[in-house]
Amino acid sequence: MSFAAHIISAYPDMFPGPLGESLHGRALADGLWRIETHDLRNFGAGKHKNIDDTPAGGGPGMVLRADVAAAALDSVTTGHDDLPVILPSPRGVPFGQTLAHEWAQGDGLIFLCNRFEGVDERFIAARQPLEVSLGDYVLAGGELAAMVMLEATLRLVPGVMGKLESGTDESFSPANDGLLEYPQFTRPQSFEGRDIPDLVTSGDHEKLAAWRRAQAETLTQSRRPDLWADFVKRKK
Ligand code: ADE
Repeated sequence: MSFAAHIISAYPDMFPGPLGESLHGRALADGLWRIETHDLRNFGAGKHKNIDDTPAGGGPGMVLRADVAAAALDSVTTGHDDLPVILPSPRGVPFGQTLAHEWAQGDGLIFLCNRFEGVDERFIAARQPLEVSLGDYVLAGGELAAMVMLEATLRLVPGVMGKLESGTDESFSPANDGLLEYPQFTRPQSFEGRDIPDLVTSGDHEKLAAWRRAQAETLTQSRRPDLWADFVKRKK
């Protein structure tokens, strides 16, 4: 069975968007994963099919109605109640490579994309989606966040990257001890007076591995003290 990406959104035409291009697009066409969009507006309330309303107690913006969100989600989870339900949100737990690896082991994901100030809290209490954040900034909606999480997850689904599979030895991967990736080089040998380091092309695999490791450690230490501290703690 292929990996299923379910997207609930008021803007379903945004998908597959960039996920329809390049290797992910090829894998989609080849049936290695599939996408099903579900238009939130089909679940709108009343004759105007409203999906949002003003915040109770006042405040800016609009809030996605709990009954609308629940009806849309329930229509998808019926028959797929084993799939994780993700609510992209700046107040969620941080997204990272560990979650991507975990999700890639499963059969798919359901994303509920919001475009407003938020979702009525009673929906969250009743259906308990996993709120996940891309980072400490606020996007205009969950759609781009869902695409980012999907792209990172899908490239770890077997076959999606084809022969270019490299999901293990890269930044943040357990095989790389959670460090940032070492520098890469390719042709030409000389670029604007800068040469590929001799060691990289020397053919001495042991020395190269040691050099790459040292580079990864130096980079991580200077750019990501948080990752470096985790690494040092794990080594103890
Ligand atoms: N929706 C709005 N901002 C977001 C963020 N930072 N991460 C995930 N979803 C969001």
